[in-house]
Amino acid sequence: MLPNFTVDFNRPSLVGKEMDYIAEALERAHISGDGYFTRQCQALIEEALEVPKVLLTTSCTHALEMSAFLLDIQPGDEVIVPSFTFVTTVNAFVGRGACPVFADIRPDTLNIDETQIERLITPRTRAIIPVHYAGVGCEMDAILEIARRYAIPVIEDNAHGLFGKYRGRYLGTLGCLATQSFHETKNFTCGEGGALLINDLQYIERAEILREKGTDRSRFFRGQVDKYSWVDLGSSYVPADILAAFLYAQLEAWEVIQAKRKYIWEVYADCLSDWAENNCIQTPYVPAHCEQSYHMFYLLLPSLADRQALIAHLKSRGILSVFHYLPLHCSEMGKRFGWKEGDCPVTEETSERLIRLPFYNTLTDTDLEYVITAVKDFCTGQKE
Ligand SMILES: Cc1ncc(COP(=O)(O)O)c(C=O)c1O
Repeated sequence: MLPNFTVDFNRPSLVGKEMDYIAEALERAHISGDGYFTRQCQALIEEALEVPKVLLTTSCTHALEMSAFLLDIQPGDEVIVPSFTFVTTVNAFVGRGACPVFADIRPDTLNIDETQIERLITPRTRAIIPVHYAGVGCEMDAILEIARRYAIPVIEDNAHGLFGKYRGRYLGTLGCLATQSFHETKNFTCGEGGALLINDLQYIERAEILREKGTDRSRFFRGQVDKYSWVDLGSSYVPADILAAFLYAQLEAWEVIQAKRKYIWEVYADCLSDWAENNCIQTPYVPAHCEQSYHMFYLLLPSLADRQALIAHLKSRGILSVFHYLPLHCSEMGKRFGWKEGDCPVTEETSERLIRLPFYNTLTDTDLEYVITAVKDFCTGQKE
């Protein structure tokens, strides 16, 4: 049995009309895919970000899988990804036969180190997949310039970064494709969900087909064909409209949610800065040209022992804090592709030192004060 934590790491919350909209989806007698609320969510993101086309999907993972289909990834193709990411950033492409080519991360933003990308390119490179870690933009000018020179598509894994910006441009609008997550832990959620953002118009028609099990059902519903049939590869990537109803309520309140998360992030940053400095702890770095999405607040402890001791210390106070990605190049699968410990040293030591503090929309001032007091009662270099 899990202990009953006083402060959870994450809690989903209602922000307004979620339950009303679910009831409305039922009243509209359309709770399967591509109903009213799916269209509303897509239109909201298209307008807010000025993206030509948004397709809601069942997860970010599935939007990544769609991207692999859209790029026609073939066995033996290579994709350049950071090792410090979620498994499906790469597994979506490995599933089509690709070999992962892992880049290390920058020690400041923990994003892909753009200076490593060019030397990883080979004649088989088919995609570069930057991940905007914690919703702080990767160095997209440099990445896009290399990609343009070698004519390699860029897919932004923007699972964390909806409404974040890089040099005044929304994350998710910079690559030819981008993927979003609406998983329970994200700023906006419907439990499980995602979206594919299509910036390069050539991919729209095929993306609609892939998402509809390889059929031209979308064209049929638009009256462009008189029956729909099997025309391509694909799978079932369309979420139920009942989930889109929940999500739409969250997206409609995006400015309220972001303001709340900005507040929480800034309280952590302000209250913990002196303590962090005194204990040689690194706090998140957001370059001046990036507006982050306030997805998470993390700390980098001096060592694995310190990180584990802080997790245990917080647990003893009823606070759940967690670590994050394990280096993909050191995993069982990574090793099968020939990667080994030492290949991405910054990823390896970052993964051991990182801790994420409780962060969710309904975290109260009392919760924050409780967590901050508990954190400040901890000193590095002494195990609990
Ligand atoms: C960077 C990144 N990409 C992709 C995903 C997968 O998202 P989903 O759970 O919506 O498939 C995650 C999950 O947290 C993630 O952190």
